[in-house]
Amino acid sequence: MVELAWEGKYDKSGKKTAPLKIPLPLQTVETINESSQERQKSIDLFLHREHSTAWRNRLIWGDKKYVLPSLLPEFAGKINMVYIDPPFDTGEDFSYTARVPDGEDEVESFLKEPSIIEQKAWRDTWGKGLDSYLQWMWETLLVLRDLMHPDGSIYVHLDWHVSHYVKPICDEVFSPENFRNEIVWKRTTAHSHAKQGTVHYARVHDVLLFYGNSESATWNQPYVQHSDKYVESTYRSVDPETGRYYALGDLTVTNGGPKGNPKFKFLGIERYWRYNKEKMMKLLEAGKIVQASPGAVPRLKRYLDESPGTEVSSIWTDISPVGAQAQERVGYATQKPEALLERIMTVSTRESDLVLDCFVGSGTTAIVAEKLNRRWIACDLSKFAIHTTRKRLLSVTNVKPFVIQNLGKYERQIWQAAEFGESSEARVQSYRQFVLQLYNATPIVGYSWLHGIRSGRMVHVGAVDSPIAPGDVTQILTEFRKAIGTGTDAPRTNGVDVLGWDFAFELNELAKQQASQAKVDLRFLRIPRDVLDKKAVEQGDIKFFELGSLGVDLKKKGRKVSVELTDFVIPPDDVPQDVQKNITHWSQWIDYIGVDWDNRSDTFHNEWQSYRSRKNPELQTVANHTYQESGQYLIVVKVVDILGNDTTKSLKVQI
Ligand SMILES: C[S@@+](CC[C@H](N)C(=O)[O-])C[C@H]1O[C@@H](n2cnc3c(N)ncnc32)[C@H](O)[C@@H]1O
Repeated sequence: MVELAWEGKYDKSGKKTAPLKIPLPLQTVETINESSQERQKSIDLFLHREHSTAWRNRLIWGDKKYVLPSLLPEFAGKINMVYIDPPFDTGEDFSYTARVPDGEDEVESFLKEPSIIEQKAWRDTWGKGLDSYLQWMWETLLVLRDLMHPDGSIYVHLDWHVSHYVKPICDEVFSPENFRNEIVWKRTTAHSHAKQGTVHYARVHDVLLFYGNSESATWNQPYVQHSDKYVESTYRSVDPETGRYYALGDLTVTNGGPKGNPKFKFLGIERYWRYNKEKMMKLLEAGKIVQASPGAVPRLKRYLDESPGTEVSSIWTDISPVGAQAQERVGYATQKPEALLERIMTVSTRESDLVLDCFVGSGTTAIVAEKLNRRWIACDLSKFAIHTTRKRLLSVTNVKPFVIQNLGKYERQIWQAAEFGESSEARVQSYRQFVLQLYNATPIVGYSWLHGIRSGRMVHVGAVDSPIAPGDVTQILTEFRKAIGTGTDAPRTNGVDVLGWDFAFELNELAKQQASQAKVDLRFLRIPRDVLDKKAVEQGDIKFFELGSLGVDLKKKGRKVSVELTDFVIPPDDVPQDVQKNITHWSQWIDYIGVDWDNRSDTFHNEWQSYRSRKNPELQTVANHTYQESGQYLIVVKVVDILGNDTTKSLKVQI
């Protein structure tokens, strides 16, 4: 077999390299649209250490490099259809236009640059040019193959830049016998290329490489309506009694002997016929055979209203791109039309089959799977993509419950072990030193909860594998009070910066109250995921953002509760100064609000939500709820800002 080689495909000993296949446990961080009965069921099962078997569609935030191997233990051999529309070397894959709402429909927008972690993914892909891209693609396809069901199919969406390189790789991974089509999708029309001085034909199509995983890959023959021209030229006869249009088709077979067709005399004519005598008689009785005049060769009547249409070919010109005015448009530069996914999903899957897209972008695959009643798993590295998909899914009528997952602490634990060694005490020490250095703080010794000092403020470094919880804050404050004014390293300040990867829901306000009673100025800062990226660290451009803060008012009357947002502040560094100046009301920072009315210290359950969409740019900042039973409840309010970042606040209420 012809094989494509690139630098990196073979290791030094001449063996083909294989992708990283360390499965990490996926963590559910949010559950959307689950009923309270279902929630109670999951809690009960959890308490009895059992797993729920109810299927939940999954939206996963993470790099496919970690997410795909993490799916293997549960899903190897189970995915019925894969669609991927991988990023391409434009460097713009991770930039997006963030929109600041302003009144009904006027918006201000700015280009959000890729985060460092996204830039890293881009370097993984393109750092060494085409060689590294092909290696990245090879590794992706190998894991996808392991995930695919024997009857599964894969569609790889590409264009003229690399489709010809990826074809031989797909042949190698899926076998040339399983290649089904190179589909040409005409995605645009020729437009003013020539005027801009191009000297090539307008590049107007994308390519979808389609492979079955075996001979028996699911195939539901697709048809499109006949064109008017075809109908006019083909269905030219009309049944005088019924008015039905029909065409006349051949019933004879040229050179039918060797092909095994029967030869007999029918209506006085001897020929090789397409059907046997019995079937021909039946057709005749049904009025489906016409003999124009005695001695003429009988022909078959094919009615227009019985024709399924024209078979879909490998050139698709009937699916328009997502236009500026399209209903489905969500403002994601690489968004693909739902009709495209609808076609491939109806052809290559059946109801309740499982569909996977590890570059889901604006969520098209998940949306179409949801509408066609297929199960789905969707992944993307960009937080903005995950948020866009979540919002888009919520706008689907009767969307089934789904979960949002990530690799969270497990990704960080692997990183900590790899970077700082296996011995746990030494590892934790060096990890803290590393974070302190990135935060420009000086390490201090002799304390358990205070680890460094910067510009006169004490610094606590949160653990990699657990969120900062109220108990931690109590310990930090206690140690801080004891430490003040004693010993050489003793703080002479009243400020503490708490650096954490994650923060418990109930933390924010309670901890701040506690701190203000103790007259300590407490700040919470998030350790950015970029810290996991060596190169970013070397470049020294790591930013620690203060947590956004959310003002919420709670009103209670009997069993009725009303929650009103009163203020929201986000870390401003990601938004250009000139845009910030034009924001006149705090609610303009907010894109989405979700409320969990009864958080049980499980994951956040989105039970009420309001969000901006093109159809409805208004945001509701008041949410109402009536409790069925008295008791104490924990309400969690989650806000997603215009850049896709979450901020939560929790409130206790006694009913
Ligand atoms: C061309 S877009 C997909 C668009 C999508 N088909 C749609 O209809 O919206 C490619 C997506 O891949 C994501 N991506 C790039 N590298 C990734 C990686 N290593 N892991 C997961 N997602 C990645 C980008 O964030 C981007 O959303």
